[in-house]
Amino acid sequence: MVDGVNKQVTSLFCISGFCILLALGNPCGPNEYKSANGECCPMCSIGSMVVHDCTGDLSTTCNNCIPETFMSKPSGLKKCFACSHCAKSQGLYIQSKCTTKRDTICDVLDGYYCIGYSNSQCRHAIKHSVCKPGQETKTLGTKTSDTECENCSFGFYSSSGLNCTKWTDCTARNEIHSEDGSPVKDVKCVQKRTRYCLVALCPPVICAAVLAVLYGRSCSEGQTVNNGDKRNWIPIQETSLGPVTTGQTLEETNR
Ligand SMILES: *[C@@H]1O[C@H](CO)[C@@H](O)[C@H](O)[C@H]1NC(C)=O
Ligand SMILES: *[C@@H]1O[C@H](CO)[C@@H](O)[C@H](O)[C@H]1NC(C)=O
Repeated sequence: MVDGVNKQVTSLFCISGFCILLALGNPCGPNEYKSANGECCPMCSIGSMVVHDCTGDLSTTCNNCIPETFMSKPSGLKKCFACSHCAKSQGLYIQSKCTTKRDTICDVLDGYYCIGYSNSQCRHAIKHSVCKPGQETKTLGTKTSDTECENCSFGFYSSSGLNCTKWTDCTARNEIHSEDGSPVKDVKCVQKRTRYCLVALCPPVICAAVLAVLYGRSCSEGQTVNNGDKRNWIPIQETSLGPVTTGQTLEETNR
């Protein structure tokens, strides 16, 4: 039964001529290699290399790979491969040390992304780009891709290049817009003058005092303007009970 199946498979391949090529190219078994003498010798297992090919009744002699070399597949090779290095200057660090059975595994340093591979291992990584002021980070960089930046839209600014923040709304803060914003800086707001606010907030007594001062001042100003003579201003202040007169001047007047 098994013979029958084998014959079918063999003839099937032979119709395409494939089995002939296969037979010629691979005269030894799957775990054998062809020695220099043309003999099919057993391969050395992973982590080892051939020291002597098999001859006659003697099987292959194998030795472990020496330090800093590895062999990751059964083979008939007489030398193991040199372990890879993970150079910091290449943006790499050792994730897993080299063993005789497996090459070093390098990984990409934080803040770097890979730009060069060989044998599906990263061999060269460079630093992520940093977004400029006026931009924000659209996509953070990964081990395999760079940071993606995006310009701030109109009405937003980013001084650091990290985030676009909306310009301050001065009106909403009850302040006055004093300087325009740009993609790299916020608008400037200044506080409105506080007198209206004070009048609204202060207790009635202080309000009255303030109003009295204002009233007194406008009276004095009015008289000064009417007379057009500054000398007349002084007697008015000395004799008047106007709130502009301080305690000190009152004392002086009394003397
Ligand atoms: C981003 O802004 C810069 C200058 O501010 C401009 O040169 C560039 O074309 C803009 N890029 C995009 C994609 O709009
Ligand atoms: C700024 O951007 C970073 C990432 O780019 C994000 O983690 C952070 O939450 C952002 N901050 C604000 C205030 O949007």
